[in-house]
Amino acid sequence: MTKPTVKVNVQLYDPTRDSKPRYESYDVPYVEGMRVLDALHYIHDHYNSSLAYRWECRAGQCGSCAMMMNGKAGLACQTNILQDAREITLAPLSIFPVVRDLVVDVEKGVNKVLKIRPYVQTASSVKRPQVIYPHEIEDVKPLKECVECWACVSMCPVVQAAWDTYGGPVMMGHLARLSYDKRNAFDHLSVAFLEGLYACTQCGNCKEVCAKEIDIPEKAVGKVRYLAYNKRNLLREGHRFVLNSLKMHANPLDESSNTRANWASDLQTPIGKREAEILYYVGCMASWREQSVARSTAKLLSMAGADFTILGSAEKDCGSVLFRINDLELAREFALYMKDKVRENRYKTIVTSCAGCFRTFRKDYPERLGIELGVPVLHSSEVFAEFIRDGRLVAKNPVQIEATYHDPCHLGRHLGVYDQPRQIAKELNVILHEMLNNRYKENARCCGAGGGVRSAFREVARDVAAYRVEVDVPKEAKAIIHTCPFCYFNFEDAVETRKFPVQNVDLTELLLMSVMGPESRKIIGDRRYDQISALAEKK
Ligand code: SF4
Ligand code: SF4
Ligand code: FES
Repeated sequence: MTKPTVKVNVQLYDPTRDSKPRYESYDVPYVEGMRVLDALHYIHDHYNSSLAYRWECRAGQCGSCAMMMNGKAGLACQTNILQDAREITLAPLSIFPVVRDLVVDVEKGVNKVLKIRPYVQTASSVKRPQVIYPHEIEDVKPLKECVECWACVSMCPVVQAAWDTYGGPVMMGHLARLSYDKRNAFDHLSVAFLEGLYACTQCGNCKEVCAKEIDIPEKAVGKVRYLAYNKRNLLREGHRFVLNSLKMHANPLDESSNTRANWASDLQTPIGKREAEILYYVGCMASWREQSVARSTAKLLSMAGADFTILGSAEKDCGSVLFRINDLELAREFALYMKDKVRENRYKTIVTSCAGCFRTFRKDYPERLGIELGVPVLHSSEVFAEFIRDGRLVAKNPVQIEATYHDPCHLGRHLGVYDQPRQIAKELNVILHEMLNNRYKENARCCGAGGGVRSAFREVARDVAAYRVEVDVPKEAKAIIHTCPFCYFNFEDAVETRKFPVQNVDLTELLLMSVMGPESRKIIGDRRYDQISALAEKK
């Protein structure tokens, strides 16, 4: 029996000689339990003795073997080659200049970290050892596990698009460690603020690739934001605006609550109905900025015969941005209000359009506040996939557009909803091309708007979305399908500003067009209807 082999494609590049990188493929015998570093040693010993790659400890301790493996950064010595893997592609860490083959120069990152003085500075000479009790550093202790492999930095969407504005995850790790060290007299909080503390989208891509499972968004960025806001009132102007608006109108958009359900005026959508099976929680973006999402969702629920209601002007913000800037007191008010509404009216299920509301109800309320809403919370894509399966919605009219799908971080990486949106797209006959560079599902690059970034750094949010469109959207795709109105809104800004030849569409709009046919025009509006129809014709 022939021994199994794995095809290993390795990027080779000597910038002093080659005009551009190229890939060479090598067949490597598969051995159970082998790691990527073992494959590289084999290639070096049997095929290419000049292959350049770094390694030292082979134990995940020195951080030197980090590289891109199938488009995802990680440590070669800690990454198993799976038995059924036929092929694996290796490239140097992105972001950094290549020295040769798989070796990069991380000097830019190191210099940025050195600039923040990443060490404890005491106020005066210390006479005797200072005692630090375990509970004082408990929260930031995991940060000390960092081996500075730079994998997280190379995957960070904000670093990729705007490294000048945001210092990046390694720097934030140092700043959190130092901000919580009581011996430290240096003002690392102000440094963090200046280094883009509020430019992290909290997308979690850094955590996803970290071999040490360090939770930078929560344990570094979140912890420093907590101190920055609660101890020093360090906030960006955009966040102050949002906070004021939330306090005055219970929404972050400075809109009057009375207009929250204006989108539904011609739809006979039930408002404030008690004991409905489904509370459709519309969310602020769909209520005011992307109303065709709300209209399509309400129409689909009603066509499926669902017993549902919206809260109308009684709906309040979910509090998402408050968790990102750590105003937990106000977040608690919104959470308790929502819990009361659900209990008083005996709703059985909550359905959201926005991935951010979905995460807030499902994850932030219970984990950050200990508040359970007491009923299942579903995203509309989960509900509609089930309605299609049950025959309650029939996708009669094919929507044959060539498109790609953007996985919102809050829906995908944070809560594992990947398949239902794709199932719906398939039912509609959409020709789906996944995002390039392995940037879909758990590796999806963030849209740039989350984590409070859109309110604090509008240009950064737009640049991150623009980077995603430029680098990840396949050229065959004429549209980007969304399942979050907030991502949609931010991508729309990027596409319009940069004049990208691609359109943003929401999955519920497509589904409604398929279920209703031309009649859907009056729900989603002439402009959107014509744009999507034109895409189908282009195919
Ligand atoms: S946080 Fe994790 S991925 Fe980032 S440099 Fe440290 S060990 Fe590497
Ligand atoms: S959470 Fe996302 S934006 Fe923030 S540091 Fe990690 S990868 Fe970068
Ligand atoms: S060789 Fe040291 S971390 Fe991989």
